[in-house]
Amino acid sequence: MKILGIGRALPEQVIANGQLEAILDTLNEWIQSRTGIRERRVLKTHSLTDLALSAAKEAISDAGLTGEDIGLILVATTLGDYLFPSIASLIQADLGASCPAMDLHAACAGFIYALDTADAYIRSGKAQNVLIVGAEAITRLADWEDRSTCVLFGDGAGAMVAGPGDGLLSTHLTAQTNSDVLYSMAPPGNCPFTQAPQNASGGLKMKGQDVYRYAVTRSAEDLEIVVNEAGLEISQIDWFLLHQANRRILDAVRARLSLPAGKLPSNIHRTGNTSAASIPLLMHELYHAGLLKEGQLIAMSAFGAGLTSGACVLRWDKAPPETLTLADDLFPLSQQPTPTT
Ligand code: UT7
Repeated sequence: MKILGIGRALPEQVIANGQLEAILDTLNEWIQSRTGIRERRVLKTHSLTDLALSAAKEAISDAGLTGEDIGLILVATTLGDYLFPSIASLIQADLGASCPAMDLHAACAGFIYALDTADAYIRSGKAQNVLIVGAEAITRLADWEDRSTCVLFGDGAGAMVAGPGDGLLSTHLTAQTNSDVLYSMAPPGNCPFTQAPQNASGGLKMKGQDVYRYAVTRSAEDLEIVVNEAGLEISQIDWFLLHQANRRILDAVRARLSLPAGKLPSNIHRTGNTSAASIPLLMHELYHAGLLKEGQLIAMSAFGAGLTSGACVLRWDKAPPETLTLADDLFPLSQQPTPTT
């Protein structure tokens, strides 16, 4: 497969760290120094389905296609507006598509899982063009009285259209059962014949330091695996697009693999952790800034609840857009981007 089009949608509402100081025992200084986050977008009036639809429409139009050309819709999400129907089903008609549609849940690694699934459909000939959306409203799951987690998350949607091509050079997905360090329990319901689990609790629960250690080790290892499987050296990769969970995680992975800071763009200061939407949102900014050049090599890595992880190497095969959008704050880790080509 290769990427034909890309789109995104963010909620209009911006919540800055200062606004969290007013409702929690926290400080802007703590949040920025421990995570790199300055602000995040939070859904206010629009639904997550609206965001997913808007990002999907932009990606299809950017690909020069219409909804009728799409053979499969995959939405990577943790929780849509409904438990069912899926977001994928809800956006299908408005896109003018009539293909199969489903949501895929692999937490923050969901977008790379979806990319890999899209590749399998295209490779097998079961679909020609696949729409992949990462859409998340994790702020709805967060416990807004728990300062150690709610400050981290933001909402958003990023989308891509994949079609036949030889752009995806390698992928590596992992899953390792662990429902202890990062989880959110489903509502128990009110069936009079079912006993609610003893440990039933609402909201998002996380053992931050355990997830942090997993993220750094897993991400560095996954990146080495996919670069190796693609027959490449780390130094040949032009861009490393990592799940935007914490600026310090990006720094730690960069240090482990001795990566130049200018190859690790980051928008976490503006978005927070948007889970499965994180990587397509970052890629959209890079593309619209004119930084993605045809032939460049991109390594991506994401990790999250499950525990799951996914990584891939992609050769970019698309000309920059005609109108560029300045994104001069995408490299907070250094002054200059340092692509190899
Ligand atoms: O998408 C994947 C999902 N998640 C992640 O990738 C998250 C991975 N983990 C992390 O990013 C970090 O572990 C956190 C940002 C969640 C926490 O950073 P940390 O440096 O590991 O802090 P900590 O949990 O060790 O807490 C240090 C202190 C504690 O106070 P005491 O016990 O030292 O007095 C916390 O209570 O910071 C306190 N603290 C806060 N203080 C102000 C925790 N949250 C806050 C807060 N504001 N928001």
